[in-house]
Amino acid sequence: MKGVSGYQLIGDIALISLKTSYIDYRAVGEALLKINKRIRAVFLKRRVSGDFRIGELIHLAGENRTVTTYKEGGITFTIDISKVYVNTTLSAEREEISKLASGKVLDAFSGYGPVSLRIAKRRLYVVAGDLNYDGLEMLRYNSKRNKLYPDVVLYDCHFLPFREKSFDFTLADNPSAIREFLPELIRVSKELCVYFLGKKPILEGFNVSSWKKINEYSKDLFIFRLCSKC
Ligand SMILES: C[S@@+](CC[C@H](N)C(=O)[O-])C[C@H]1O[C@@H](n2cnc3c(N)ncnc32)[C@H](O)[C@@H]1O
Repeated sequence: MKGVSGYQLIGDIALISLKTSYIDYRAVGEALLKINKRIRAVFLKRRVSGDFRIGELIHLAGENRTVTTYKEGGITFTIDISKVYVNTTLSAEREEISKLASGKVLDAFSGYGPVSLRIAKRRLYVVAGDLNYDGLEMLRYNSKRNKLYPDVVLYDCHFLPFREKSFDFTLADNPSAIREFLPELIRVSKELCVYFLGKKPILEGFNVSSWKKINEYSKDLFIFRLCSKC
């Protein structure tokens, strides 16, 4: 339909992003229900904001429910998309980063654990931490159901409750705010990979040894993965 570039499917819920206010989004929702029988609910996702990076959701069509179950990397997740950051389009990147991890691992901004559980599946010891209690509850639930057991810690990453160089590998997925967490992340890590939102793969205070462009955020802003020994 004119003005709609695509949608994200999470389990049986379709999410469309706001591009222009001139579209009849409810008609788009009804059309999606007709063309894809897997879809049971359609929501419009408005601007992502706040520390938890959760998008505001507006119900458009089908069931008015935000809990759904989906599978990624052979792991089943039941999540509430209104309470935690979700981006299923990053599945390939999660697979790649989980293969880079080795030794004792910290997933510093774990959310509901899409990366932590992949790393745990590789039989590595992983600590999953986040500020979002609801996200960590989902992670605990999904850990049990998949029989994968990361250590789950509720914390504010500005003050990490770990000793110097506790982790062989730390992954820090908070692209829009990564700068403010760097001192703590470097303190507890031997090797650190961060995601960073910027024009170029340069992050002050971080000695980049390798980088990769992950995706295009807007016309001249990109998400990069930057890694370094600490
Ligand atoms: C971009 S999301 C990434 C979540 C997860 N890695 C994923 O792929 O779904 C950023 C995460 O950082 C968490 N966060 C934001 N501020 C934080 C803080 N001060 N301490 C710990 N976690 C924080 C949010 O709750 C959110 O889960």
